[in-house]
Amino acid sequence: MSDTEKPRYLGLLNTIAVAEAAAHAYLTEWAEVTDDPEVRRVLLTVAAREGEHGMSFARRINELGYEVREKDFSAARKALEIVRSDRSDLDKMEALELHKLDTRGAPDLFDDIFKDHSIDIRTGELLGRYIAEERDSARLLRSCHECLRAARNGDDRARSDRLAGIEAKVDALGRSVDELRQIVCGASVGTNSS
Ligand SMILES: [Fe+2]
Repeated sequence: MSDTEKPRYLGLLNTIAVAEAAAHAYLTEWAEVTDDPEVRRVLLTVAAREGEHGMSFARRINELGYEVREKDFSAARKALEIVRSDRSDLDKMEALELHKLDTRGAPDLFDDIFKDHSIDIRTGELLGRYIAEERDSARLLRSCHECLRAARNGDDRARSDRLAGIEAKVDALGRSVDELRQIVCGASVGTNSS
């Protein structure tokens, strides 16, 4: 295929191949370190899709007569740093903004892809499945985030309930000490006056 025939969507395919392979790498690492089995399940489901997308798009680029061009992908390095940190799963998800991928029906970054009418049938098939799976993964990640957020709110509530309980006990203890002091003082006044 000569340069003049180069598909104008080749850059898009390359971006997807590189980004998906990078997402597979960091999601898999994260899944290995989380101690929450539900988070692990979601991460491995999404990671499997990402890895398959990375390979399928690399394959398509190869079928079109080209090679994947690795990019200096600083976002991927940052993502690896985040999943390797000692942040909680909730903090990792929010730092990576994975809970914001699902736009709940509002336009997303995939909406414009098929505005390119030159996309060939085989690539169009691949892109169509890719977009549907990405949106499903976004929904999975959003509900996982909602569970993590609810668990943290529950923990915070339980902690403030415990604190309120401790404060009430300290107040009661203070009152008992006052009463005791009055009794002791009253007793010593009685002793001195006798
Ligand atoms: Fe993806």
